Amino acid sequence: MKILVTAGPTREAIDPVRFLSNRSSGKMGYAVAEVAAEMGHEVRLVSGPVARYEPSGVATVEQVISAADMLDAVLANFEWCDVLVMCAAVADWRPKVVADQKLKKDGAGDVMTLELERTVDILQVVGGKKKSQVLVGFAAETENVLDEARRKLVAKGLDMIVANDVSRDDAGFGVDTNAVTFVTEGAETKMPLMSKRNVAAVLVELLEL
Ligand code: PMT
Repeated sequence: MKILVTAGPTREAIDPVRFLSNRSSGKMGYAVAEVAAEMGHEVRLVSGPVARYEPSGVATVEQVISAADMLDAVLANFEWCDVLVMCAAVADWRPKVVADQKLKKDGAGDVMTLELERTVDILQVVGGKKKSQVLVGFAAETENVLDEARRKLVAKGLDMIVANDVSRDDAGFGVDTNAVTFVTEGAETKMPLMSKRNVAAVLVELLEL
């Protein structure tokens, strides 16, 4: 299979030195890319800014910064792929206006208000262009994990969503382990806590079925 994987956070600029982002380390997405390549698949990775070495065996690694950049990179590779795995923690909002110069705090008072606007929903955009591609999302939730995952599966027109509870210390952002449930329209498979590489291997096996 030809598998396109996204990983890491996006950064949404406030001014030339500041940005909005999140705690994604890229570990989960890089594990999916590396393990899929080890399992004999052709893999391309689109990565937000993370401090990681390029995963071995992956054909191309494209580095991006913002949600808009990630959309461009995903679109450029979408026709090529059989499967898209959106593991990236794409920012949901960005500053409505990006300041040309570093914002000054002198004279700005004690409270700063930023106006935000929604970023593009990458899965929704590619969903509109889908031919035979399989679309896999991840759902990062802190409450009602499975309900939210089921809602996103339908709302984003996905074939599968991988639900993870990111309020746990041993799962989700930054750590080497994850506890996920694979959710499709007909089935839900809850996995125990395991390494992100093992989560990746189970995901790829499910995609091979
Ligand atoms: O990188 P790690 O530190 O290893 O952490 C792993 C992880 C917690 C980031 C990962 O396991 C994970 O849950 N990734 C998805 C994070 C996320 O954005 O979840 P969400 O529930 O907000 O979004 C649902 C899906 O929509 C995701 O597949 C996301 O990539 C996609 N999305 C979100 C926003 C947006 N503007 N466009 C999108 O396509």
